[in-house]
Amino acid sequence: MNKFDFISANTGVLVGAGHGIGLELDRRIRSEFPHIKLYSTYHDQSKNQNSKALRLDPLDESDIMKFADSLSEIDFVISTVGYLGSTPEKSLKQIDLKEMTYAFQVNALHMPLLMKHLYRKLNSGSLVTVLSAMVGSVSDNHMGGWYGYRGSKAALNMFMRNMSIELRKSIVVSVHPGTTKTSLSKDFIKSVKHEVYGADQTAKHLIDFWQNCMMNHSGRFFHWSGEELTY
Ligand SMILES: NC(=O)c1ccc[n+]([C@@H]2O[C@H](COP(=O)([O-])OP(=O)(O)OC[C@H]3O[C@@H](n4cnc5c(N)ncnc54)[C@H](OP(=O)(O)O)[C@@H]3O)[C@@H](O)[C@H]2O)c1
Repeated sequence: MNKFDFISANTGVLVGAGHGIGLELDRRIRSEFPHIKLYSTYHDQSKNQNSKALRLDPLDESDIMKFADSLSEIDFVISTVGYLGSTPEKSLKQIDLKEMTYAFQVNALHMPLLMKHLYRKLNSGSLVTVLSAMVGSVSDNHMGGWYGYRGSKAALNMFMRNMSIELRKSIVVSVHPGTTKTSLSKDFIKSVKHEVYGADQTAKHLIDFWQNCMMNHSGRFFHWSGEELTY
């Protein structure tokens, strides 16, 4: 299949659906495409607001294996998993190895680990997608700072590009969701000059974007509006 389409999808995985953008994606997919068998997951019980989601730790390989074994075929995998932290580094003197390692694990490493066990289940023409961030663009970085977040989202984009080369029958894309009011962004959106969206609006934008994804989008990085972003 040359094009992804939620209408012809039967089974999907949505990782990171406990709150924020992921929760709104879950609600929208279930209401707009009720025929889809959606396996959505959360990680932190104390933050989970989604009664339909299952618990999965995307950094625990045995957890992922059990989850993968419970699935047959998959038409899409969406991951919203991401971590910014409350005090992203403004300069080198704020580098903290533990904090930075955590950012890389959550933002970048979870996806290849997850796909190590899910790729066998992917149908031809399936969509594999992550919420990345514009600040993960190396060529568009003119402000600096946010070492851990920027670096780990850039690494995530590289992993997605790699997977697009290996998973030739799937559409593998990174997408910037747009600045969205969630717990991740709450401390930073006050100073933002551009438009800030609600999580429900962002979920709509993302579904519209994925609904237009073609095989030739694979290995690339996009703004939710469809504009291509540079690595
Ligand atoms: N909001 C924005 O303005 C914005 C802008 C650009 C990109 N993004 C990206 O969009 C995605 C969704 O963010 P959001 O705004 O919806 O924020 P959010 O509400 O904080 O959601 C972040 C998600 O990541 C998961 N997560 C965090 N740490 C985890 C860990 N250690 N293990 C497993 N899962 C973990 C959370 O699950 P648990 O709480 O269950 O652990 C949650 O599902 C993120 O990847 C973010 O980088 C957001």
